[in-house]
Amino acid sequence: MCDSLSTGAMVLLGDVFPNFEADSTEGPVKFHDWLGDSWGILFSHPADFTPVCTTELGAAAQLAPEFAKRGVRMMAVSCDGVNSHKDWIKDIEAYNSLGAGRFPYPIIADEERHLAVQLGMLDPNERTADGLCLTARAVFVVGPDKKLKLSILYPATTGRNFHEILRVIDSLQLTAQKKVATPVNWKAGDKCMVLPSISEDDAKKLFPAGVEVIPVPSGKKYLRTTPQPQ
Ligand code: BEZ
Repeated sequence: MCDSLSTGAMVLLGDVFPNFEADSTEGPVKFHDWLGDSWGILFSHPADFTPVCTTELGAAAQLAPEFAKRGVRMMAVSCDGVNSHKDWIKDIEAYNSLGAGRFPYPIIADEERHLAVQLGMLDPNERTADGLCLTARAVFVVGPDKKLKLSILYPATTGRNFHEILRVIDSLQLTAQKKVATPVNWKAGDKCMVLPSISEDDAKKLFPAGVEVIPVPSGKKYLRTTPQPQ
């Protein structure tokens, strides 16, 4: 059942994200209009009234002020209809102590799995009782230029870490502005790495707070750190 559905063209980094149209818990959505000039995150869910999804959507809702602080609009998608989503939201609000009517972002209705196919999100290992493939746990971060900046894909059985997603957004937004990369386990405020493509002279000009070259046995000067540029 999935095999014929799983041939959606993957959206690759740098591609313009599809300007899909769909119904949602907040009414009809046209993706690019909804995004406007903001960053956006779209995260997918296998189905309504499922336990892991209920914890994820609640955690994302609790972190909504953090996404807003970064100028990132939030949107979820699940393979059920709007009425089902609206009923499920009441459970999500209760389980995650959000308060009734406080759920802060739209959930797209993808009953026919059009979006799941279009975005290559189907999980061949997780199916409904009818044998239909469920959507995996995809995350797409889209920039104000409507281009895909990051995608991750987990199987339906593994819940995501929304603190990690915020960390990644901090890195994406920093590296969109400054000629740095962020090293392993980086978090906002930590030292950054100077891009290998930057010459020594340019690095001095670009990073007045200083560039430290870390000595290594090869003698090559590629490990260069700088305080996080503001
Ligand atoms: C869940 O959200 O708990 C779930 C959904 C589909 C497959 C496995 C887990």
